Amino acid sequence: MSTVVNTSEAPTGLGFGARFTASMVLSRWTPGDGWSALEVVPHRPLELSPAAMALHYGQAIFEGLKAFPRADGSLALFRPHANAERFNHSAERLAMPALPVETFVDACARLVRADASEVPTGPGQSLYLRPFMIAVEPSLGVRPAQEYLFAVIGSPVDHFFADGFEAIDVWCPSDQIRAAPGGTGAAKCAGNYAGGLAAKSLAVAQGCHEVLWLDAREHRFVEELGAMNFFGVTREPSGAPLLVTPPLSGTILAGNTRNTLIQIAADLGVRTEQRHVDIAELTTGDVRFVEAFACGTAASVVPIGSVTTADGRYVLGDGRPGELSTRLREELAAIQYGERPDARNWIHTV
Ligand code: PLP
Ligand code: COI
Repeated sequence: MSTVVNTSEAPTGLGFGARFTASMVLSRWTPGDGWSALEVVPHRPLELSPAAMALHYGQAIFEGLKAFPRADGSLALFRPHANAERFNHSAERLAMPALPVETFVDACARLVRADASEVPTGPGQSLYLRPFMIAVEPSLGVRPAQEYLFAVIGSPVDHFFADGFEAIDVWCPSDQIRAAPGGTGAAKCAGNYAGGLAAKSLAVAQGCHEVLWLDAREHRFVEELGAMNFFGVTREPSGAPLLVTPPLSGTILAGNTRNTLIQIAADLGVRTEQRHVDIAELTTGDVRFVEAFACGTAASVVPIGSVTTADGRYVLGDGRPGELSTRLREELAAIQYGERPDARNWIHTV
C-alpha cells in the first residue's frame, strides 16, 4: 500500500508542482480592449492590489494539462482544446470573460517552446501546465470584476502520487460535500478545492490518500475524488469487463481523462456505463466491483485499493492494481508519449 501521499515534495525526483520553469505567459483583459496580446515573460511574483477581487470573492479558475516528451523527440500537448473549452465553461459559471480557444492553446504552446529544455524526460515525467485566470480589479464591490489576468505557468513533474502505480485508499466523509446541484461543481474554480481541503486533511489523518465525495442530497451516490474522476469495473453478463462511471450531472468535473479513457476502453472492446454508483455497491458484502480507479491529468490512472466510510474499511478486489486499470493506464501513456499512433488526433505538437 502507498505510504507517501501526493506530496508536492517527493523525497527524490521532481515531485508534483514543487518546481517551476523559467517563463510564464500573460494576458490581461479589460472591457474596452478585451484580451491583450500574449506575452512570454520570466516566471516571477505577480504585482497584485490587496483589493484584487479574486482574493476576496474568489473569481479564480484554472486548468491542468501536460506536455509530453515523445518517442520521436518532439514535445506535444495532450488534447489542449478540451482544456480550453472547459476553461471557458468555468469562466462563464464564474461570470468571467471567455478566452478564445486558440489563444489558450497558443499560450500553452508558447510556454512549452520557451521552456522546452526544462521538459523532463524520465519515465512517467512531463511538463505540467497550469493556465489560470483571476480577477485583478481592485474593488470590494460584490459583482463581476472588470479586469482579469490570464497566465500559464509550467512545472516539471513526476507522477502525482510519489510512489507511482500503487493502489490508493479513499475516505468518504459523511458530513461534508464537495458540490450541490446548481453550484459550481462542474467548474474548475479555486473555491471548489478550498472547500475540500478540510476533508482531505481528515482523510490523511486516518491513513487515506484522498476523499471520495458522495452526492449532496442523499450522501449515497459516488461523485468523484478531490482531483480525479471515479471509475469502477464490473462484469457484463458474458463475464467481460464493464466500466462504470458517474454521469456528468453538473456536480462533477467533466474530466478530459475520463472522456479519453471511455474512448480508449471502447477501442479495446470495453463498454462504459455512465450511471449513479451507490456507495453500498462498493461497501457491502456482495461487492460487484472487481476493480476501481481514479483518473485525471495529474494522476493519470490510479487504482483504488480500499474505501473507508463511517461503517468501516472495505478492500476492493485484492486491494492491488487491477488488470483493466493497468491496461488503461498503459494505453493512455503509450498515446501520450508517442509509442502508439494518435488515431484520434489528440496530440498537439508544439
Ligand atoms: N475532478 C476534479 C475535481 C479534478 O480536479 C480533476 C483534475 O483536473 C479531474 C476530475 C480530472 O480532470 P482531467 O482528467 O481533465 O484532468
Ligand atoms: C489535474 O489533474 O490537472 C488537476 O488539476 C488536479 C490538481 C488539482 C492537482
